[in-house]
Amino acid sequence: MRGYGMILLINACVRQESRTKRLADHYLQRFNEPVTEVDLQKISFPLADEDFLSRRDRLCEEWRLDDPMFFLARQFASADRIVIAAPYWNLSFPAALQQYFEQICVRGITFMYNAEGIPQGLCRAQELVYITTTGRDPVPWDYGYGYVKALAESYFGIREVRLIQAAGLDMIGADTEAILAESIWQASSEERQRTKREQQKKTLTPVLVVIVFVIYLIGCVAVLMLAGWSPVLLMMAIPLVGMIAGIIYVLKERRAVPGSR
Ligand SMILES: Cc1cc2nc3c(=O)[nH]c(=O)nc-3n(C[C@H](O)[C@H](O)[C@H](O)COP(=O)(O)O)c2cc1C
Repeated sequence: MRGYGMILLINACVRQESRTKRLADHYLQRFNEPVTEVDLQKISFPLADEDFLSRRDRLCEEWRLDDPMFFLARQFASADRIVIAAPYWNLSFPAALQQYFEQICVRGITFMYNAEGIPQGLCRAQELVYITTTGRDPVPWDYGYGYVKALAESYFGIREVRLIQAAGLDMIGADTEAILAESIWQASSEERQRTKREQQKKTLTPVLVVIVFVIYLIGCVAVLMLAGWSPVLLMMAIPLVGMIAGIIYVLKERRAVPGSR
C-alpha cells in the first residue's frame, strides 16, 4: 500500500449539509488512509490582541516552540499533505480559517525569515489542496484560494497548491448535484493524469540516466583509443565536479525546504 504520511484536513465548513465538505470527503477517499481533521467550528480561537502577540513573540524569541500555544502550528508544519475545505464566503472564506492562519503563522515553526528578510517555508508538506464551493460564478481575482495559495507558497514553502471547486451552486436553476459530480469527475481525472505523469517520470529518469552513462562510457573508450589516458582523466573529472555541485545544491535546497530540518 502507498503511504501518504500524515494527511491533515482543515475543515472550515460551517453547515451540517456542507457541499464543500462533501467534495472534500470525496477527494480524501482516494487516499484510503486515516485523516487528521481540524474542525475549525470546534475550536475557540483566542483573540489575537496585544497580549497574545507579546506572549507569542516572547516565546518565539526564547525559542520555546514546544509551548501548547503552538500546537496547531506544529501540527500543520509536520503534515505530509494538507487539504483545506472552505466554502466561498464574502469573496473569501469563513473567518475561522483566518483565525486558524493567525495561529499557525509562527516564526521558527511554519516559516522563518532569511538574512534578506524573505520568508522561508518550514512545512513538510509539498502539496496543499484547497477545496471550495461557491454560490455564484467565482470572480477572477479570488481572495479565497488566491490568498491561501500566496500564503502557502511564499510563507509555508508548499510548492504545489491546487484548487478543487464546484461553482455556481446557488444560481437560479442550477443543478447542484450535476455541478458537484462534474467537479468530482474533473478532480479525479486531473489526479489520474498527475499520477500517470509521475509514474512516467519515475520510469523515464533511470532509463535516461543509463542512456547518458552508456554514451559517456563509449565516448571515454573512443577518446582513450584515439588520444590516450590524459583526456580521459579530464573527461572523468567533469562529471565528478558536476556531481559534487549537485550534492551541494541538493543539501542547500533541503536546508531551505521545510520538514528537512
Ligand atoms: C455568509 C455567506 C457568504 C457568502 N458569500 C458568497 C460570495 O461572496 N460569493 C458567492 O459566490 N457565494 C457566496 N456564498 C454562497 C456559498 O459560497 C455557497 O452556498 C457555498 O456552496 C456554501 O458552501 P457549503 O455548502 O459548504 O456551506 C455565501 C454564503 C454564505 C453563507
